[in-house]
Amino acid sequence: MNSNDTSIEELDPARLPAHVAIIMDGNGRWAKKRLMNRIKGHEKGSEAVRMIVRACRAIGIKYLTLYAFSTENWQRPKTEVSALMKLLKNFMVSERRELLDNNIRLITIGQTKRLPDDVKKALYETMAVTSDNDGMTLNLALSYGARDEITRAVQNISEQVKAGSLALDEINEELVSASLFTKDLPDPDLMIRTSGESRISNFLLWQLAYSEIHITNSMWPEFTKEEFISILCDYQNRDRRFGKIEE
Ligand code: FPP
Repeated sequence: MNSNDTSIEELDPARLPAHVAIIMDGNGRWAKKRLMNRIKGHEKGSEAVRMIVRACRAIGIKYLTLYAFSTENWQRPKTEVSALMKLLKNFMVSERRELLDNNIRLITIGQTKRLPDDVKKALYETMAVTSDNDGMTLNLALSYGARDEITRAVQNISEQVKAGSLALDEINEELVSASLFTKDLPDPDLMIRTSGESRISNFLLWQLAYSEIHITNSMWPEFTKEEFISILCDYQNRDRRFGKIEE
């Protein structure tokens, strides 16, 4: 980690987003443009994942959530799903040492039980060995869908009401937040989407209520640390009012 990077020093450490969430989009188009197989785009995208984790740690971002595999992605061709699973497994193994050395905790959100056994094994091992790390939290959204997450929360809350352990007037925003996969995380301050698409694509629908949103035309495999820092500079110039007005 190079903490002497001058461009990082342009950032105001007191006004960094605590939580950055990223929709890593455009792997397929990046590959297609270069007449390559889509899987090459995902491979290059994995390198960008390594880059962003290092950059966030060096800058001092406390939480980074990456949309790595959605519930909808299961419907992609089998070869592409298998390639993505292989990349995820490789990441869990190859990055374990780096996560440990840099005090980074790995967690996940989503229906991880749907992942193949070998991926789950590598994932749970890396999560277990990094669980005490407190320098930064890397949160991978895996087999994640926000509607699925909210539906589960509604089911869970309804069961408590039905069992008589929860009254209707005890259901409030805090309880809903506490019933989501992200219950232990602050809401994202900044959500970045690559590839120029202006969509949320079933990502953190509840949690993004007041997040700043930045859409860049860069495809995920070509996203750089320099662009990330310039997005953070832009974020630091925004006026976050959370629906209120300035005094
Ligand atoms: C979207 O691009 C990206 C994905 C569906 C998968 C993201 C996966 C990675 C970046 C690599 C593996 C992840 C880790 C954490 C090691 P797309 O395929 O939808 O691109 P397109 O819209 O151009 O087709």
